[in-house]
Amino acid sequence: MNRQQESKSWSTQDLIPDYVKNQKLIQWVKDVAELCEPDRVYWCDGSQEEADRLNQQMVASGTLIPLNPAKRPNSFLARSDVSDVARVEDRTFICSQRKQDAGPTNNWAEPAEMKTTLTNLFRGSMRGRTMYVIPFSMGPLGSPIAHIGVEISDSPYVVVNMRIMTRMGRKVLDVLGDGEFVPCLHSVGAPLAPGQKDVAWPCNSEQKYIVHFPEERSIWSFGSGYGGNALLGKKCFALRIASVLGRDQGWLAEHMLILGVESPQGEKTYVAAAFPSACGKTNFAMLVPPAGFEGWKVTTIGDDIAWIKPGEDGRLYAINPEAGYFGVAPGTSPVSNPNAIATLKENIIFTNVALTPDGDVWWEGLTDAPPAKLIDWQGNDWTPDSGRKAAHPNARFTAPAYQCPSVDKNWDNPAGVPISALIFGGRRATTVPLVMQSFNWNFGVYTAATIGSEMTAAAAGNIGQVRRDPMAMLPFCGYHMGDYFNHWLEMGRKISNPPRIFCVNWFRKDENGKFMWPGFGDNMRVLKWIVDRIHGRAFGEESPLGWMPRYDDIEWKGMKNFTRQDFRRLMTIDREEWKSEILSHEELFEKLYDKLPREFMLMRELLLSSLWRSPVKWEMAQERYLEN
Ligand code: OXD
Ligand code: MN
Repeated sequence: MNRQQESKSWSTQDLIPDYVKNQKLIQWVKDVAELCEPDRVYWCDGSQEEADRLNQQMVASGTLIPLNPAKRPNSFLARSDVSDVARVEDRTFICSQRKQDAGPTNNWAEPAEMKTTLTNLFRGSMRGRTMYVIPFSMGPLGSPIAHIGVEISDSPYVVVNMRIMTRMGRKVLDVLGDGEFVPCLHSVGAPLAPGQKDVAWPCNSEQKYIVHFPEERSIWSFGSGYGGNALLGKKCFALRIASVLGRDQGWLAEHMLILGVESPQGEKTYVAAAFPSACGKTNFAMLVPPAGFEGWKVTTIGDDIAWIKPGEDGRLYAINPEAGYFGVAPGTSPVSNPNAIATLKENIIFTNVALTPDGDVWWEGLTDAPPAKLIDWQGNDWTPDSGRKAAHPNARFTAPAYQCPSVDKNWDNPAGVPISALIFGGRRATTVPLVMQSFNWNFGVYTAATIGSEMTAAAAGNIGQVRRDPMAMLPFCGYHMGDYFNHWLEMGRKISNPPRIFCVNWFRKDENGKFMWPGFGDNMRVLKWIVDRIHGRAFGEESPLGWMPRYDDIEWKGMKNFTRQDFRRLMTIDREEWKSEILSHEELFEKLYDKLPREFMLMRELLLSSLWRSPVKWEMAQERYLEN
């Protein structure tokens, strides 16, 4: 549908292609067109031809820079406005009917008032622009675990990114029929007056709102064109709204990667793992086993989000609702993540990375030595002595999942994959050992709920301070965190064969501030112990906090310069540190007090008393690391 607007009132015939049958969708598109007053309305079909056309259009308008086709075929660079470079958590709202349903960890506003504010902002917000209707499926089309959304956006950059990140286009409407979908309304909030020339990255530098209406299951996003603010299938739908669907329907929407571990004998084990943003989820999901693990394979289902539903056999089954990776570029290298580098060879949209003189891309960490000359992410000349970063620290690549060399053969399987373990990790320089297994589901939920990360230098004054980030969902849970913990406990009661729960910490440092664990490929050693535990093959030591591997329970083949003493230091549970750690959970519990599961207080007491009451036994056990 492509027409110049003659008046503010659209006829159905002008607006709605005849293959669209969903009455709610028809009415919503009409209402939005009336409100936002675009020049044109266009229904995305998801074809390659459509993507090529939009890319060429954005090259002509200056939004995209084509990369050198000999080096990076069919790939483009976008440079955002300097005010629009990341998710805006302080402008993100959960507008449930009742404030207590959003809880103290979310921003809340009264939904009717918020609707009035947003309606005023959206009125005429698409003037001079095309309104794109983008039907998408989160998860394989037709999967019983998948759900459908429709995003309306005035950004062609959003369209081409959504085509990579989701199953997008006309085929989704065929599956939708007259069923339910999540309406996701997005505008960059930069209407054009007649004759006004557009900028390369339109956005609204004054007003940004990322708003979720959980009861209505809808999303309104205004003012930003960037990542999670604008690609509404990702954090807004697949985590914030989906977590509410999961609460109501008995499943989990989690900030987790999903990977498969294949042994040389062909045994396949799937696990899902939650880490806060910027803790290497994509690297872990695409792990390449180190020397000593010949014949082992790690395969990738997803790098950021998992939807997990109980199956009829009492196990949990997971899908990756996304179809691509929106990964952080800086730090990604042939050493840290060779599979990601191979994934990026063609058909990629890069945002806010640097441009090389020969039309390719670069970012900090890609190579040891930076190129002599670059154009930085803001379009300025750059040399290594410029004293500033060439790529923005939150620069991204948008890449199709199927291009990843480690992609799992079941990545698109509508049935999902059975999950045998859930792994939770934070970024802790002290206190938390490399790996431990919780005694049972409830203790695992407690550990995951109280996991923390130390703040990095980015938050001045707070360095080293621990921020609790329950299940790595702090910015993404669409309802009260206390209810969320109760939902997790309830899931454990309902499923007969729950996954085992593990906690890991790749980031422990020694007294000189040096990482004690090499991480990356060597995380395979931890993963193998986890897999061995799942299949009942590995022993462990019972600590006051959970089960832990002894030195000899880990496969060390191929690892150089790592002694029993190094392992012991990495695994140490210091009783005094842990008493303060567990006492400090109080801070989170006080915040969530009115909805905190009663079990949590009891488990906290149990953990404290086992730290206090069995010192001799545990100290002896710690010594055994050295003896064994
Ligand atoms: C992401 C994030 O972009 O967690 O995945 O911020
Ligand atoms: Mn994430």
